[in-house]
Amino acid sequence: MTPDEKKQQVAKAALEYVVEDTIIGIGTGSTANYFIDALASIKHKIEGTVASSNATAERLKSHGIPVLDINGVDEISVYLDGADESNRYLHLIKGGGGALTREKIVAAVSKRFVCIADDSKLVDVLGKFPLPIEVIPMARSYVARQLVKLGGKPVWRDGFTTDNGNVILDVHNLQITEPVKFEKELNEITGVVTNGLFATRRADVLLLGSDDGVKVLD
Ligand code: A5P
Repeated sequence: MTPDEKKQQVAKAALEYVVEDTIIGIGTGSTANYFIDALASIKHKIEGTVASSNATAERLKSHGIPVLDINGVDEISVYLDGADESNRYLHLIKGGGGALTREKIVAAVSKRFVCIADDSKLVDVLGKFPLPIEVIPMARSYVARQLVKLGGKPVWRDGFTTDNGNVILDVHNLQITEPVKFEKELNEITGVVTNGLFATRRADVLLLGSDDGVKVLD
């Protein structure tokens, strides 16, 4: 199977995790897009959705799926989203699509986080995929210097602006052996809005599309 076929396979399997008559959170990226397309077939079974990006909101609306403002929502039953990397403890790197901040907010509000990915995303140690960090534009150079001190090689995602009007630094050369600790350390740098480590609030379940069917890790 190609990576895209595995993403489609896992997106369909994730329909089982949708809680009927509730509000569900929807992630961003190609796997999340396949999930949105699958969700359209059962849209009458849910109360509505909260989107983690403008792109996701547009895709949901194009299927006639209601999109709600998260500030008016008390509870999200389940959040479904992809990842750029996951380790076996379901600590993730996310933000390849630049939506990490809104993704982290939706994940924080959600009771359960179901991560969906093709099996190439499972790694022993996080960090081969450059870690995205959303930064206030005027702090870009300062934050980059602090990241170098931590052993990383930050690269400005030139020409990209997040839905929140900020910039992204993609940090190469990392081997993240203590994701919870490193996530907190990065958050302490002034000017950092969010980093793409989802370790403090990790996934609760990881579904992996593979040649042998969908694998479930929890
Ligand atoms: C979006 O900002 C990311 O966090 C995505 O969840 C991640 O990049 C996975 O994307 P794909 O599903 O396209 O691989």
